[in-house]
Amino acid sequence: MKKAFITGIGSGLGKAFVNVLLKNGYSVYALSRHLPDEFNGKIKFEKVDLLSLENVYKSVDSLLRGERVIDLVFLNAGMLTPLKDIHDTPIYEMNRMMDINVWANKVILDYFIDNRIYVDQVVAVSSGASVNGNRGWHGYSISKAALNMLIKLYSREMTQTHLVALAPGLILTPMLQDFVLSADEKKFPSVKRIKNSPKMTPEEAAEKIFSLLPHLKSFESGSYVDIRKI
Ligand SMILES: NC(=O)c1ccc[n+]([C@@H]2O[C@H](COP(=O)([O-])OP(=O)(O)OC[C@H]3O[C@@H](n4cnc5c(N)ncnc54)[C@H](OP(=O)(O)O)[C@@H]3O)[C@@H](O)[C@H]2O)c1
Repeated sequence: MKKAFITGIGSGLGKAFVNVLLKNGYSVYALSRHLPDEFNGKIKFEKVDLLSLENVYKSVDSLLRGERVIDLVFLNAGMLTPLKDIHDTPIYEMNRMMDINVWANKVILDYFIDNRIYVDQVVAVSSGASVNGNRGWHGYSISKAALNMLIKLYSREMTQTHLVALAPGLILTPMLQDFVLSADEKKFPSVKRIKNSPKMTPEEAAEKIFSLLPHLKSFESGSYVDIRKI
């Protein structure tokens, strides 16, 4: 049975991706704050707030101790705060995005290396915001750009593993609805563009990403890949 490790399954893409993994016969190990009722008894789950970086390593250990091989690591958990100018965004707020979107993933990848767990494929969920630099995306853009580089750097060290940072396209999730679609479209032109662009449901996005997993391996390990361009 194939094994997948995933972060952030309380809502949106992560929750839908767990369903796709289960449908495809994977054994699922998940780290998140919330366990949706529908997964109770179906997956191995460790509750953790990824903002508490000091708890992340031991939570991964509780979940994976004794495992030797993980087929897929899906680093999905992410945080966006309401769009605003970077001038108006305090550093502590941007640090929170850095902790979840970047540093929690470092701790997790370090766990795999330290414990010599063979990982076949890593997909870290990035964003077009990592390269666009649109007005209002403050520390989220910075954190996702840093995530792209984090994955490239680990690809140099995890030579037996294939890694990509994947921009998943626009998905109608709480993150998009609460923080982007409700933002000021005059001040932040990307909001209007996003409103007018096609969006996937979390289920559609999860199915698409799952079906693309073999294809992602055709990119050089460590690459940033935008799903809309493949
Ligand atoms: N939606 C889009 O259009 C879009 C576009 C580009 C990239 N993305 C990326 O896609 C990924 C999934 O986001 P989404 O759109 O599905 O949004 P979402 O519904 O808000 O999901 C965020 C996920 O992250 C987890 N999470 C957040 N804070 C956490 C914390 N402190 N500790 C542990 N887990 C935490 C949540 O799980 P819990 O509920 O358990 O905390 C949830 O499953 C993110 O990395 C996001 O940046 C989304």
